[in-house]
Amino acid sequence: MKLKIIKDPNPILRQKAVKIKDPLDNKIQELILNMFETLHWSKGVGLAAPQVGVSRRLCIIEVEGVQYALINPKITAKSRKKVLADEGCLSFPGQFFQISRYSDVQVRYTDKNGKPGKIKGQGLLARALQHEIDHLDGILFIDKIKKKKITPKPVKK
Ligand code: CO
Repeated sequence: MKLKIIKDPNPILRQKAVKIKDPLDNKIQELILNMFETLHWSKGVGLAAPQVGVSRRLCIIEVEGVQYALINPKITAKSRKKVLADEGCLSFPGQFFQISRYSDVQVRYTDKNGKPGKIKGQGLLARALQHEIDHLDGILFIDKIKKKKITPKPVKK
């Protein structure tokens, strides 16, 4: 079932999501399936549960045909290096901003079978992991736009 994606501004997107105690709960299993269906419809890279109105620590990612369902994910290591790239969000349709992210991250999580998992991500996967895990803490990509001070240039005559 395709779910409705919550768009900014909506207070749900700013809430800190609650930890999932039982990953095998039917509601969570069904939510994971529905979130993947929704992600495919939207042609997105990742989706976090708060974006479909469920304030729980769950996000999904699909990069290069590989699907990840991450329950209670946590970034456990990150590179020193950061990279700047265009980023979008399904809660901000049609909006893209240059966002700086760690080039590599390591994430620990619980998989959909309730087993512990670990991902080492780089490139787009690293970016998606940081973006989606931020959603679980009510952090949105617009919070990370580099605030550049604009100095007006003198008008040439
Ligand atoms: Co997003």
